[in-house]
Amino acid sequence: MARITAGVATSHVPALGAAIDLGKTREPYWADCFAGYEWTRRWESEQAPDVIVLVYNDHASAFDMNVIPTFAIGCAERYVSADEGWGPRPVPDVIGHADLAWHIAQCCILDEFDMTIINDMAVDHGLTVPLSLMFGQPAQWPARIIPLAVNVVTYPPPSGNRCWLLGEAIARAVASFPEDLNVQIWGTGGMSHQLQGSRAGLINKPWDTAFLDRLTADPEALRGIPHIEYLREAGSEGIELVMWLIMRGALGPGARELHRHYHVPASNTAVGHIVLENG
Ligand code: DHB
Ligand code: FE
Repeated sequence: MARITAGVATSHVPALGAAIDLGKTREPYWADCFAGYEWTRRWESEQAPDVIVLVYNDHASAFDMNVIPTFAIGCAERYVSADEGWGPRPVPDVIGHADLAWHIAQCCILDEFDMTIINDMAVDHGLTVPLSLMFGQPAQWPARIIPLAVNVVTYPPPSGNRCWLLGEAIARAVASFPEDLNVQIWGTGGMSHQLQGSRAGLINKPWDTAFLDRLTADPEALRGIPHIEYLREAGSEGIELVMWLIMRGALGPGARELHRHYHVPASNTAVGHIVLENG
């Protein structure tokens, strides 16, 4: 049986990917930020997950105003790195797990979640930066990846509660897949960030810290946070945090915090990272 063993969440700030690609991670501006991922890099190499369901948002790379899927699941064999204006990031192609992805798509759709099925898609920093943070610069990514793209760019994004319920449905789907697979689920994006307008650079550490605390102390309370609270407290792009609730909803009520990291600034945002063991 496939089983979800852990959940990982991290910000996906593109500047972190550029720092890795350009060999700048030990520079004074970046060193402390990257130090917070060392624990996870060691832990991931011990865990050796077979498959990662990687929840992220596309930033007008694969989708634009022509097509805006609320929830899209990648069922392809392979995904290339998107060109976001500076050429594609120099990272390995992302290898999918088509059988499990189609199984999750089928289960979730029959479970009344209307997933969009994607068979051809370039993946942008939302997906590749978390891989680089957790795995560094390998010749091949050490796990197969199922991209799960969520619209958090164009109003209306899904509610946090809907994301949580989708996470629960993904967990049911994974548990009914007959192959013996160690599966992780990752949520990306956040934490506080507002990239534009008069509040650009907004950082709300107390709110971010409370969000991290509640992932284990009171996760049910996170389900009810309305969109307006994310915008007001964590900035306009803080809404990316609803994707962490897909990750959290896929874990059991007894999930345990193994590691946490919080760093300001990276670009003009707060970087948050947490590792949860399923339970
Ligand atoms: C930036 C972009 C993002 O998509 C994000 O999640 C955080 C930061 C940026 O451009 O700095
Ligand atoms: Fe983003």
